[in-house]
Amino acid sequence: MLVFLNGEFVERSQAKVSVDDRGFLFGDGVYEVTRVRGGRLFEGARHDRRLARNLAELELPLPTGTTPAALSEVALKLLHENGLAGGEALAYFQVTRGVAPRAHQFPPTGTPPTVYVSVGAFVPPDALRGRGVACITYPDVRWTRCDMKVVNLLPNVLAKQAAVAQGAYEAFFIRDGLVTEGASTNFFAVLDGEIRTYPKSNFILPGITRDVALELAVAEGIAVREEPVRADELSRATEIFLTSTMNDVMPVVTLNERKVGDGTPGPVTTRLAKIFAAHLEAECGAGAGAPVTANR
Ligand code: PDD
Repeated sequence: MLVFLNGEFVERSQAKVSVDDRGFLFGDGVYEVTRVRGGRLFEGARHDRRLARNLAELELPLPTGTTPAALSEVALKLLHENGLAGGEALAYFQVTRGVAPRAHQFPPTGTPPTVYVSVGAFVPPDALRGRGVACITYPDVRWTRCDMKVVNLLPNVLAKQAAVAQGAYEAFFIRDGLVTEGASTNFFAVLDGEIRTYPKSNFILPGITRDVALELAVAEGIAVREEPVRADELSRATEIFLTSTMNDVMPVVTLNERKVGDGTPGPVTTRLAKIFAAHLEAECGAGAGAPVTANR
């Protein structure tokens, strides 16, 4: 399996990063995960824009001549080289502030960032989408810049681990009595017939899947309100779902071991999941229907 590291295509086992890398020492870096189908990056331009924004917010320039769009081209080359251009895959992008002796402040100007791109085969959780998933709530102990997709993911790791330890799929963060988002997903509930979700702000990641799903819902005449759901409203939500690159639109059928609605995927979620699947198909072609194995 070939990966891209600092301008070179290398075997994954040979791709090495220094112990002085600021990603390793400080979590000083950003990342993106993009869905790929049939050799096409789903919503690639939006992912490129989000990566560019995060890099700019952190004053972390890409090497001269490199752009997010150029890294997307690198991902396409990796898909072809690794025999993954025909099926479902994920592309991963990470940029850190490079290698320098340990000191909290930025390293000297001109220190090259570490740039990494990899791809891997992906099995979409289609069967799970039919059944729905169990989730839990968890305190949102994160900082106040959750809008940036940074590799510093410790609270997300702890939340997801708490979910998995309880046999659940995802943990939804609660901050000041409001549901913000999941450990690696965005959160939605249907209340009084409306889809409700936390508005874009510094307290959630502006998920690409979130944006696309909401745009599709509005275009289909489904009522949407970008207003937070209170934790004390959760018990009267008729439906709950989550979105992310790896889940598309995923129904949540139990929360903290209590049934959501009648405990099966609800009509609004099911409709939106179908609309989303049709959009993905229109953009990237039909799904393979079966996992594709990489040519190694
Ligand atoms: N996670 N919220 C958080 C905290 C996330 O980490 C993610 C994505 C999302 C959904 O964003 P998108 O729809 O753009 O995938 C929301 C990625 C997939 C991950 O960490 O692996």
